[in-house]
Amino acid sequence: MKAKAVFICQNCGARSPKWLGRCPSCGEWNSFVEEVEDETAAAVEEAFPPAEPIVFADIEASPEPRVRVGAEEFNAVLGGGVVPGSLVLLGGEPGIGKSTLCLQVSRDFAASGEIVLYVSAEESLDQIKLRGDRLSVGAGPLHLLAETSLERIIAQAEKLRPRVLVVDSVQTVYSGKLASSPGTISQVREVANQIFRFAKRRNVPAFLIGHITKEGSLAGPKSLEHIVDVVLLFEGERDHNHRVLRVLKNRFGPVSELAVFEMTAGGLEAIANPSAFFLKERPAGEAGSAVAAVIKGTRPLLVEIQALVSSTLFAANPRRMTVGLDRYRASMVLAVLEKKLGYVFAGEDLYLNAAGGLEVEEPAADLGVVLAVVSCLKNRPLPPDLAAFGEVGLSGEIRSVGQALPRVKEAVSLGFQTVLLPRANALGCERDAPAGARLAGVRTVGEAVEAVF
Ligand SMILES: Nc1ncnc2c1ncn2[C@@H]1O[C@H](COP(=O)(O)OP(=O)(O)OP(=O)(O)O)[C@@H](O)[C@H]1O
Ligand SMILES: [Mg+2]
Ligand SMILES: [Zn+2]
Repeated sequence: MKAKAVFICQNCGARSPKWLGRCPSCGEWNSFVEEVEDETAAAVEEAFPPAEPIVFADIEASPEPRVRVGAEEFNAVLGGGVVPGSLVLLGGEPGIGKSTLCLQVSRDFAASGEIVLYVSAEESLDQIKLRGDRLSVGAGPLHLLAETSLERIIAQAEKLRPRVLVVDSVQTVYSGKLASSPGTISQVREVANQIFRFAKRRNVPAFLIGHITKEGSLAGPKSLEHIVDVVLLFEGERDHNHRVLRVLKNRFGPVSELAVFEMTAGGLEAIANPSAFFLKERPAGEAGSAVAAVIKGTRPLLVEIQALVSSTLFAANPRRMTVGLDRYRASMVLAVLEKKLGYVFAGEDLYLNAAGGLEVEEPAADLGVVLAVVSCLKNRPLPPDLAAFGEVGLSGEIRSVGQALPRVKEAVSLGFQTVLLPRANALGCERDAPAGARLAGVRTVGEAVEAVF
């Protein structure tokens, strides 16, 4: 076995024979770390035995029976359960609830009598026991292993032959074959590769937890995305209880699914009706609050958009703050309101908030922003049964958006009978709109404001 030292960028995986201060491929500073690589041709040979080409028509199609694990919402995100032999990477910021989610999934699976191996390289058995008690883990073949050595983990998994394997986390497990420290790019890749091979060899699904940095890249594991079959992202604001589970990549299903959970003392609870959840604290009859129908993943969702306009103390540089909304889109909408409706925001601080800590980047939220701002300026609340969606263009036109009908249906099902929407969308979904829905199609911001106030 020949060991050779290389320097590898921990940000993007670029390689160099010598140390570099700045990575030429991703531009990151001080990201090169010396790592020792000794994977030999023989090792590669052993892992991937030689294959022969086969004529397409001769391949026996084996339908992928999916394994349903945990809450139905979780299975839905995976595309209807997890495919045996697949490797799923679950990424999320520290403390967001990754271990909780995986332990719950393990609990539910073991409850049906299936053997689960949950490996933790981060926490002691006592710590996991505490969490497990909180999640009411019952009897059932849920096996816990506190271990950091990749080789020993694989050996235990070979011995136990679980039906589901969980490894927490990819950054703390390390292979003794490599000299570099845990969490470096070559270690993280080696761990993912070995778990991947185990999953394929034994045809069991494996979940791999990965920490991500604030910037949103899976620290190191960005380079894992092409190795694993599925990449899930677990997101949420630390000071809010809801968590959103999204798919970034899925070799066996769509990437548009999404599930919302609430973190409770008893663990994560799937939220069957996210719109109602995000609207439940909306104050009744307040000016400056509008309901926008947006799409998250494939799911229509109603969110409350709040606006606050107050005279500024910094005349030269008034504030433009947004939380959960795209700042540049919001500025553009404000500029359109100034130009087309004659409002003057020069002396005003402006705050815009998508309530509940949800990220709403969609242009379809523009019309909600317009209504919230105008409602605040006029100090007049919007009709309580009004929801809106539509993109605002630079000439003040309201442009049509995709998936209008699901938005209308979601609004009506939550009691928002009046929907303000782009004229073209109104014409498009008039026929199929639910009974009792009042569709108010508008072509310009002027028409929109007139229709409402
Ligand atoms: N008793 C409790 N009641 C409600 N929520 C709790 C309780 N204990 C822990 N939590 C929640 O669980 C979260 C931690 O979950 P978990 O340990 O699964 O996260 P993680 O993503 O695995 O974190 P790490 O990065 O440390 O591995 C805490 O941030 C907190 O929100
Ligand atoms: Mg954890
Ligand atoms: Zn780089």
